[in-house]
Amino acid sequence: MKKLKIMPIFGTRPDAVKMAPLVRELERHPEIKPVVCVTAQHRQMLDQVLDIFRIKPDIDLDIMLQKQTLEQVAARTLDRLSDVLEKEKPDMVLVHGDTSTCFISSLAAFYKKIPIGHVEAGLRTFDKYSPFPEEMNRKLTGALADLHFAPTSSNRANLLNEGICPDKIYTTGNTVIDAMQTTVMDDYVFSSSELRGIPLEGKRVITVTAHRRENLGHPLEQICHAINDITDRYDDVCVIYAVHLNPAVRETAFRLLGSNPEVHLIDPLDVQDMHNLMARSYIIMTDSGGLQEEAPALGKPVLVLRKETERPEAVEAGTVRLAGIERENITALASQLLDDQTEYDKMARAVNPYGDGRASERIVHAILYEFGMRNDKPAEF
Ligand code: UD1
Repeated sequence: MKKLKIMPIFGTRPDAVKMAPLVRELERHPEIKPVVCVTAQHRQMLDQVLDIFRIKPDIDLDIMLQKQTLEQVAARTLDRLSDVLEKEKPDMVLVHGDTSTCFISSLAAFYKKIPIGHVEAGLRTFDKYSPFPEEMNRKLTGALADLHFAPTSSNRANLLNEGICPDKIYTTGNTVIDAMQTTVMDDYVFSSSELRGIPLEGKRVITVTAHRRENLGHPLEQICHAINDITDRYDDVCVIYAVHLNPAVRETAFRLLGSNPEVHLIDPLDVQDMHNLMARSYIIMTDSGGLQEEAPALGKPVLVLRKETERPEAVEAGTVRLAGIERENITALASQLLDDQTEYDKMARAVNPYGDGRASERIVHAILYEFGMRNDKPAEF
């Protein structure tokens, strides 16, 4: 029997974390031939994830440039991927989320009339410029995709509102929860020597990440000032900020926080260190989407350093709060959690609105069904 050739395509750190369990699941099925293609929109940060999950890409487009523009990422991906698709002729490509890799890979597949499966489909803020350019990346990918793997029922509802055929939407949970099942351990020893060198005993740790394009400049400065205010106010708090490799992020973070002894500015962590650091943290402050999904599963309160979120489920469940990007507001919300145990306990409840660890299984099941290789549809998350 001819094998079904499925090509997952990804290129940045978060996409890789969330596609890794799906690659593993594809490999488990003898009737499928997975061909893994990375754009390497990120180089070092992607390679870290590939190492941890022991994934060897079949194709590496190696597109990253220092200080790359959106246009360069788009043009280089489209150009290089088109040749690969022409040669490989996969039965379906799988793209993830809302990065430029996701949208442009979908466009390249569309030009070759290759079916597209969109993993993590249907997240929306309804603000074209925030997150920028991710909101339009995911919307445009949705317009091109043939199968939509929506993590939650509210993501599914967003797609239905855009006129997507209900039969082509599968509610699967988010694959990030699948990934977490293998990474978090009680006796875990950090692989980062920077992290191992930070004395954590007796400290309440606030883990920070902030790097979004729309937060660069003034908003990121406000976030850094808030971090200084918080460590000035609390002797028992230490902040660990894993700083993205984007030079624009690093300049601001090191300029404003570099001389604060209670703030540890460390390099981006590999995914296993990050998940285990979150598990040992008191609070998470972040503008990342993935952390908003992961921390609630660990019962950690999250302050989101943005004006809106496309992930309302954990806000509704009470473990995530929108802190915005104003210094005073961020400081006030963090102080409330640090001062008031009852408030803290209300937020620090483990909830799993994003998945049950079986998203990859449902996605592969749905693909087999769509290609007539299974008779039944997967049960919804
Ligand atoms: C991208 C995604 C964003 C995702 C984020 C996760 C788009 C438009 N944005 O944003 O959705 O949340 O990745 O990190 O696709 N760099 C390195 N080495 C690396 C990684 C990045 O040097 O391993 C530097 C490069 O100089 C690059 C810059 O970081 O120019 C920015 O990377 P880029 O992929 O353009 O955008 P992100 O802000 O990372």
